[in-house]
Amino acid sequence: MDWGMQNRLNRIIRPETGRTVMLAVDHGYFLGAMSRIENPATTIEPLLPHCDALMPTRGVLRTSVDPATDTPIVLRVSGGNSIAGPNLADEGITVDFEDAIRLNVAAVALSIYVGTNYENQTLLNLSELVNNGQTYGIPVLAVTAVGKELEKRDARYLKLCCRIAAELGAAFVKTYYCDDFEQVVAGCPVPVVIAGGPKLKTELDAMKMAHDAISRGAAGVDMGRNIWQSDFPVPMIRAVREVVHNNATPEEAHELFRQLKSEARKETAKI
Ligand code: R5P
Repeated sequence: MDWGMQNRLNRIIRPETGRTVMLAVDHGYFLGAMSRIENPATTIEPLLPHCDALMPTRGVLRTSVDPATDTPIVLRVSGGNSIAGPNLADEGITVDFEDAIRLNVAAVALSIYVGTNYENQTLLNLSELVNNGQTYGIPVLAVTAVGKELEKRDARYLKLCCRIAAELGAAFVKTYYCDDFEQVVAGCPVPVVIAGGPKLKTELDAMKMAHDAISRGAAGVDMGRNIWQSDFPVPMIRAVREVVHNNATPEEAHELFRQLKSEARKETAKI
């Protein structure tokens, strides 16, 4: 891998552990102002120091992220769909590569929709990005999206999607955690990170998912709702970091979460 590409990837996937905690805040590109991210700046600001990379759209990046940050940006560059529209899979590339470079991104990200009517379109979108990425040394993150069909999240399907993404040149892949996840990782020659998916019942459930994914070969998480929809997002991301970077068990991470939550409550009481 060329130096620039490797250097950018090393800023995202920490070389000390070979893992990453990415914070996904790109949901608004098709879901609008979701609960707890209505004001992106307020949601992002306290979490930024605790993530290895941030994944926003360019609109949120320019309006709601302090340019003084040194947190690497993985820019969402696909879209053109919405939750109210006819088909979530019908995505195009939304950002000129030159604008991504202007924004000093560490990587660009887009969704692919394997097995849908838009498979060809979204896989060619990926290929176009990879071609541009190779020219400028910018890695591409492929997101194996399932749209509204959450039941598609099984190992057979996700293994297919991740492998295709890697074959087309994605430098890393984001997918969902599933049973037999190690098979997904085994079939993919580039690092795989997991999305959190819709908010789980408890914080401990999200820590268990992160732990299971890491122990089955994931290179980290790119988590959104399970962090910023928690009542205690900073304690939550710090606990997830313990799982990802320090191999904490879900119970150890949850104990840290409880301690940090109690400290946060005391701080709030003082105000
Ligand atoms: C959804 O398509 C977005 O790309 C999110 O980045 C992704 O789903 C990860 O966020 P969450 O952990 O909330 O699923």
